Amino acid sequence: MSLLSLRHVSRRFGALVALNDISLDIEAGELRALIGPNGAGKTTLFNLISGFFPPSDGEILFGGERIAATDPVTLVRKGIIRTFQITEIFLDLTVYENLRVAVETAMGISLRPWVSRAVRSAVDLRVQELLELVRIGGRAGRVAGELSHGDQRVVEVGMALAHAPRLLLLDEPTAGMGDEETHHMTNLIRQLNRERGITILFVEHDMNIVFGVAERITVLDNGALLAEGTAAEIAANPRVQAAYLGQGGAQARVTGSHADAAS
Ligand SMILES: Nc1ncnc2c1ncn2[C@@H]1O[C@H](COP(=O)(O)OP(=O)(O)OP(=O)(O)O)[C@@H](O)[C@H]1O
Ligand SMILES: [Mg+2]
Repeated sequence: MSLLSLRHVSRRFGALVALNDISLDIEAGELRALIGPNGAGKTTLFNLISGFFPPSDGEILFGGERIAATDPVTLVRKGIIRTFQITEIFLDLTVYENLRVAVETAMGISLRPWVSRAVRSAVDLRVQELLELVRIGGRAGRVAGELSHGDQRVVEVGMALAHAPRLLLLDEPTAGMGDEETHHMTNLIRQLNRERGITILFVEHDMNIVFGVAERITVLDNGALLAEGTAAEIAANPRVQAAYLGQGGAQARVTGSHADAAS
């Protein structure tokens, strides 16, 4: 049984068909990239899987259970955690406080005015673990709004990890980052998958990252599933080449042959 299955999933916004009859499976332990030109439907797919919108048609199964009409909070409890295309953290809180909020929410104690010392130290321990895991412990006391974009993204991933994801959805985790920040984030993604066994689906426009990190790749174009396969299969797929060529002669982005392929 796949961890995640989409069966004939469509999503319409009025007359616009954002996703059309998508069927796909993601196995537990996979590290999968979701690619496609702007407006292909990648974020919409994340919104459906994470319960922000219901599909117009079709069924979504998580661990064999039907989840298509389930709200995001319930899905977080089931282990489907996503980050957003635009970073969502508390800019006026410190890194530590951001992670503490996430840990408290995950533990179901965020609204309690008083918690025992034992619970307090369990929270602190978990925050420390997360700081080390995403390697941002050196900035724990810094106000998040003063961090670089890349560090803010890392904090956001740390907050997602507080919820013990079984499926982690990352929407353009390296967008707008410099080389060093990108390197840190891609290493983190690999580490979370390999060492923590977290199944990851990430949206990425930079083909060097896609082909350097993903084991399998799913390609959307104009709301339809264009191709799916290993990195080698996708790079050689003429339909994928054509979809990217149609975006303005960006074939190099598909082959990953140019160092300046970042968008
Ligand atoms: N809430 C919404 N209401 C109306 N239309 C929407 C909504 N969300 C997405 N769309 C439309 O659905 C289509 C797919 O959008 P989506 O954001 O999923 O694309 P994307 O692949 O994530 O693109 P990008 O690479 O630019 O982030 C677009 O035409 C978009 O305008
Ligand atoms: Mg998007």
